[in-house]
Amino acid sequence: MEAVRPRIVKLIVVISEGNKTTTREQYDLSDQIKAATKENHFRAENTQLMLSYQKGQITLQQYKVLLFSLYEIYKALEEELDRNSSHPAVAPIYFPQELARLESLESDLEYFFGQDWEKRVIVPAATQRYKQRLRKIGQENPELLVAHAYTRYLGDLSGGQVLGKITQKSLGLSSKEGLSFFSFPGVSSPNRFKQLYRSRMNSVELTEEEKAAVLEEAVEAFELNIQVFDDLQKMLSIATETHQSRSDVGAARFTASP
Ligand code: HEM
Repeated sequence: MEAVRPRIVKLIVVISEGNKTTTREQYDLSDQIKAATKENHFRAENTQLMLSYQKGQITLQQYKVLLFSLYEIYKALEEELDRNSSHPAVAPIYFPQELARLESLESDLEYFFGQDWEKRVIVPAATQRYKQRLRKIGQENPELLVAHAYTRYLGDLSGGQVLGKITQKSLGLSSKEGLSFFSFPGVSSPNRFKQLYRSRMNSVELTEEEKAAVLEEAVEAFELNIQVFDDLQKMLSIATETHQSRSDVGAARFTASP
């Protein structure tokens, strides 16, 4: 996997108190990770899939294949977090009650595909690579899980909340059924929870070397997400083209499923 080096950013925060303006160097992990992944976040937001989302043009087919990939990603992420829950770098950011998504994804998949949804899971190669990366760091470098948990969970609690509303509207769903992925019943205020999460991230004790590796891994986590979105988009256009050029249903492997 190509290593993408993050910019290690030293933030200078300007603090104004009355007439006095002072500056403070900011080394908190939560500030550094946000700064290091800023450009990647911009690119993730601007993938074709996320742009369709923001325009309210997400189709049921796109949403259904996205759910399969999210299921595989969260299964690996949450199993690795559970297994490493007492690791000193994982324990402070371990919030299964508030954040775990696996069960909600399972119920959304059952809603759309029925009880035998597991037999129909189809994911692109990028999702497999994302899964493998999570398994590998869970085994070898659990302190890097903080980068992956940040990327997914804080994203779900930020832009993800808007995406939930857009999905409901775009798909014309009248209830919240099929949308439990977006809902966090254990989090009463996403903003307050994000603040707590950031302070927990900042309490993780890391050497400078480990911190740099976490920032690098966060960039990688965004890149893996971008690759999943791009692969899903390609998979769907091939499925649509095949479906259009051949009249038999199921001409392509994935036309039959979602
Ligand atoms: C934060 C929007 C996609 C990960 C945010 C915030 C917004 C936003 C408005 C809050 C920014 C702030 O508090 O300063 C969006 C939109 C997206 C999108 C509209 C796509 C349509 C993604 C994706 C990921 C992601 C695909 C990663 C997989 C994050 C993370 C944060 C965040 C980790 C927290 C940043 C921090 O406060 O440190 N997003 N986002 N976002 N987003 Fe996204």
